[in-house]
Amino acid sequence: MVVLGIESTAHTASVGLVDEEAHVLALTSDMHRPVKGGIHPREAANHHVDVFPALVEEALAAASVRPSEVEAVAFAQGPGLGPCLRAGATVARMLSLAWDCPLVPVNHCVAHVEIARVLSGLDDPLLLYASGGNTQVIAYGRGRYRVLGETLDIGIGNFLDKLWIELGGTFPGGPQLEQDARNGSELLALPYSVHGMDVAFSGMLTAALALHARGARRADLSYSVEVTAYAMLTEITERALAHRRHGSVVLGGGVACNERLRGMVREMVEDRGGRMFAPPRNLCVDNGAMIAWTGHLALRAGLSVPVEDSAVMPRQRTDLVPAPWRELATALPRSSPPRETT
Ligand code: ATP
Ligand code: FE2
Repeated sequence: MVVLGIESTAHTASVGLVDEEAHVLALTSDMHRPVKGGIHPREAANHHVDVFPALVEEALAAASVRPSEVEAVAFAQGPGLGPCLRAGATVARMLSLAWDCPLVPVNHCVAHVEIARVLSGLDDPLLLYASGGNTQVIAYGRGRYRVLGETLDIGIGNFLDKLWIELGGTFPGGPQLEQDARNGSELLALPYSVHGMDVAFSGMLTAALALHARGARRADLSYSVEVTAYAMLTEITERALAHRRHGSVVLGGGVACNERLRGMVREMVEDRGGRMFAPPRNLCVDNGAMIAWTGHLALRAGLSVPVEDSAVMPRQRTDLVPAPWRELATALPRSSPPRETT
């Protein structure tokens, strides 16, 4: 049984083919990279429309899967940029009609969580979801994923991207800032904004730009921003952990690629006697495989929809969607993580 997943919430168009044991049979992706500045939703959507036909063909060929072997088509319904979501949903509807198989809507944030959970082999971990648009500490409870803490303003990745672009760099800033931070040595004072289990980053952005204007070294800024922001995320994750019986944490989202963040959370979790798991980098960033895998789970719980009920939902929050598969008796499969590509 193979599910094809379509991801198109923001900058990345991606197609994944995943079997019922969470083996990733194929993953093809193409990221829209603006020459200057951040993402323009319409331009990103046009990019996705251009690349999807080839991505679908390449994925099927790479996995040697025929359309008749695809059991369902899953797509990211939200949250995300409206034009980008609609581009992916249109492709998914078309494939589901052409191949006469069910259409399964999937929440993008829940998909980040589910791929990390299945690869970790942990049944009920706490989740730190750190991406461009989202920063949330998540736990499952009574039928859906609950947000225990989150950003009060911008997502951690958007903060890093915006800062890096303001410093003269290009999108995406997070990975480049990570490289730059390796050359930093001086820890500059920046606002540390934790409110219970929530965080905020806009004050740090303003302060970092002010330090830059006063001549601070860029590498020192990158280093200080990473240390301060990731300490904030580690603190709220620890606070949430203290309220739970089980001590394990999984990471998801593009910022979970970051070595420093992985290391800081790992140290905190292991100090408390728990386990920390982060997926391979190609499954931390936006990808069609996480949509396909969550499509499997949703399909098992009977969550397919007719085309006329498949409207995209740009503001669909993690805690708005039910996750009935969590209560099903089927055992969690243990998959072998795919080869890591960065
Ligand atoms: P979401 O809708 O889940 O918010 P997204 O559109 O932000 O998703 P992701 O691919 O999950 O997409 O995350 C992209 C973000 O991850 C970008 O902001 C990018 O700068 C950041 N990122 C990627 N690699 C790293 C890294 N090594 N260190 C820090 N940030 C990173
Ligand atoms: Fe994402």
